[in-house]
Amino acid sequence: MPQSAPRRRSLPLIEPVGGGRSRQTCRFRCGDACFHQAPNTSDNTYFGDVATAALSRRNVLRAGAVGAGATAAAGLGGMAPALAAPGNGRGRGNPRLKFEGIEPGTGDAVEVPNGYKQRVVVRWGDPVLPGAPEFDFTAQTAEAQAKQFGYNCDYVGFQSLDRDRGLLWVNHEYTNENLMFAGYTDGNDADPEQISIAMAAHGGSIVEIRREDEGRGRGRGRSTGGWRLSQGRRRFNRRITASTPMELTGPAAGDELLRTEADPDGTRVLGMLNNCAGGMTPWGTILTCEENFHQYFVGGEEAPEDAKPAMARYGIPTEGDTRSGNRRFDRVEERFDLSRHPNEANRFGYVVEIDPYDPDSTPKKRTMLGRFKHEGANHRTTRDGRIAVYLGDDERFDYIYKFVSKGRYRKGSRRGNSGLLDSGTLYVAKFRGDSPEKEIDGSGELPSDGAFDGWGEWIPLCSDSESFVEGFSVAEVLVHTRLAADKAGATKMDRPEDIEASPATGKIYCALTNNSAREPGQADEPNPRGPNRYGHILEITERHGDAAATRFRWDVPIVCGNPEDEGTYFAGYDKSKVTAISSPDNLTFDRQGNLWISTDGMAWGNDGLFAVPMEGKHKGHLKMFARVPNGAECCGPLITEDQKTVFIAPQHPGDGGSYDDPQSTWPDHNGFPRPSVVSIWHSRGKDIGS
Ligand code: FEO
Ligand code: CA
Ligand code: CA
Repeated sequence: MPQSAPRRRSLPLIEPVGGGRSRQTCRFRCGDACFHQAPNTSDNTYFGDVATAALSRRNVLRAGAVGAGATAAAGLGGMAPALAAPGNGRGRGNPRLKFEGIEPGTGDAVEVPNGYKQRVVVRWGDPVLPGAPEFDFTAQTAEAQAKQFGYNCDYVGFQSLDRDRGLLWVNHEYTNENLMFAGYTDGNDADPEQISIAMAAHGGSIVEIRREDEGRGRGRGRSTGGWRLSQGRRRFNRRITASTPMELTGPAAGDELLRTEADPDGTRVLGMLNNCAGGMTPWGTILTCEENFHQYFVGGEEAPEDAKPAMARYGIPTEGDTRSGNRRFDRVEERFDLSRHPNEANRFGYVVEIDPYDPDSTPKKRTMLGRFKHEGANHRTTRDGRIAVYLGDDERFDYIYKFVSKGRYRKGSRRGNSGLLDSGTLYVAKFRGDSPEKEIDGSGELPSDGAFDGWGEWIPLCSDSESFVEGFSVAEVLVHTRLAADKAGATKMDRPEDIEASPATGKIYCALTNNSAREPGQADEPNPRGPNRYGHILEITERHGDAAATRFRWDVPIVCGNPEDEGTYFAGYDKSKVTAISSPDNLTFDRQGNLWISTDGMAWGNDGLFAVPMEGKHKGHLKMFARVPNGAECCGPLITEDQKTVFIAPQHPGDGGSYDDPQSTWPDHNGFPRPSVVSIWHSRGKDIGS
C-alpha cells in the first residue's frame, strides 16, 4: 500500500481553531465545547488488551470470512426512503465517480463541478406557514419567525410525494445572533424579543417543495431541474421550535429524573434544541437529534450538589459565572435556569421522532435511544426484521452507540411502527486493535500489518426492562447514558459524527471528525492520531452482516488530511490523485454505494461535499463535489432516490464575521447572509456522480 506519493499541489494550511472551526462557530454552536476540558474524565482505557487481541483475532477472522459473503447477501432490509432499492448489489464491482472534482478554495458562492447546476430551495426567513410575512431583517418578530423558515439548516430529509413534488425536512440546529441582529453582543444585553426570535428560529421545518422540470431527464417519467418552495396549498408545512409541545416516551418517561414543576408527570416537554443530524425511518417518519443542548442552561453552579456530576459529564457549566456568553433563554422562560429547575436539562439530548405527514402530531422524544449529544440516527434492518439505529455522541472522547428494537418492523405502516423505538436494547461500542501498541505512535502512519483495524463488541447497557450496568436503573442508563457507558468500559472516540450504512454492502461508516485534545500517547488503533486535527472514517462490518450482532470487525479506510502528509491514508489509492479533506461530518450514500462526506472545518479553504468509492479498484479515490460559501459548513447532504438531486445545507455562512462586519452575504448579496438549503442537479439529467 503506497504511503509516499508524488506531490500534486501545495495547499496553504489554515491552522484550525479547536477542532477546526472558527472560535465564533464554537461559541454559538456548541458553547465553546472544545475550549473546555473534555467532559469524559472516566478512566476508560484508550486501547484494548493487546495480548488478548492477538489470540482472539483468529476467531474474528473466521467470523469475518463468513461475514464477508453474508454481508452483501443480507443486504439492508430498509434504508432511508430517500435511498430505496436496499442491498441491490450495485456497489460491487468497481463503482466510479465520473464528475470532475473541484479544487479546494474560497468564495462567497456554492461551487459545483462542470455540467452541474445549483439553486437555493429555501432560505432563513422564507414564509412557510399561512399568515407568515415576507422576511424583513429590520422588522423581525418571534411571531413571524415561528411561521418562517428557521436558522442554521443542518440535517435534510426528503420524501417524494410524486414525481416533481416532495416533503423536505430540515433541522435548524442553532442561531448566530450576531449575524441575525445588528449590534448583538450576548444574551445578557439582548432584547427579550431577540431571545424569543432565536428560540423560534431553532427546531426544524417541514416544507413542500417542487422541482422545476427542465425537461432534460433521461428515461420514462424522469425529470430534472432545481427545487423550490411550493406556493399555494401546502398542507404538510410545519414549524417546530424550542417551544413546541413534545412527549417523552419509552422506559425513562415519567421517571423522577424527568419531572419538573411545570411537568410533574415527567412526560411533556417544550421544544427541542440544537438538532444536528438525523435520519428517516422505513415507516416514513423523521428522526432528528438533539446535540449540544448543554449550552442553553444557566444556574448550574446553584444546582443541587448531587445533580452536578451528571450535569458536568454533559458539559453543562456547574462552576463560576454560567451566564456570561450565554443566549439567556432563561430571561424569557425560567425553566432554563437550573438553580430553579435542575431536571429541565434532563429533558434534552434525545432522538426526536416526527411524523411529517401529520402536522398536528406530537413529536416524540425517544428515551430508549439514550441521552447524549446525539449527532444522527440512521438505521439498518436486522436479519429477523427488527430495526437497528446507529448513534454517535459528538464530543471529544465520547462513544458510539447502537439501539436494536425488540419488535419487528411492519412494512408500510406508520401507525403499526409507532412504538418500535420505545423498547429494545441500547448498546455502546468497545473497539480493540490487532496491532502492537508501540506501532500506533499517533502520527497516522500505518502499523506493520498495513491497517488500522481490529474487532469490537456492542456492550449492552439496558433493555427496556433491565439494566446491565451495576448501580444504574433503566431510567438512569437512559438519562445519564454517558455515565453508564463510562462504567461499561466503552472506547473513547474522536467525536463520532454521522454514522450510516452503505446500501450496497451493509457496512457501517462513521465520521470521526477530529480531536485536537488527544495526546500522542492516547492514540489507539481506532483513533490512530494524537492530536487528531483532520479526522478519519471508520468502517464497521457486523458479524454475519447482521445489524443485530453484538460483535463486529472494523477498520479505518480513510485517514483525512492533506494527501501530501504521510499521516493520511485513502484506502491505498494513489494519493497524488486525491483531494485534501478535513473534519468529515455528515455522510450519505448514492445507489452505487459511493460514500458522500460533508465537512465542518476544512483546513484548506471553504467546507464542501466530497465523494469516494468504498469498493473496487477506485476505492479511496476521493474528489470534491461541492464547495459552500465563506464561513459556512456543508450540512445535509442527501441524494434523492431517483439520483437526480443532491440537497446540501450551507450552515452559518458568514461565520467569523458579524452583521456589522459581514464575511458573507450569500445567497442574496444584499448585506447579510441567510442559511439556506441548496439543490444540485446535472444539467443534462444524468444521475448524480455518474
Ligand atoms: Fe452539529 Fe456534530 O455536528
Ligand atoms: Ca492493525
Ligand atoms: Ca454534524
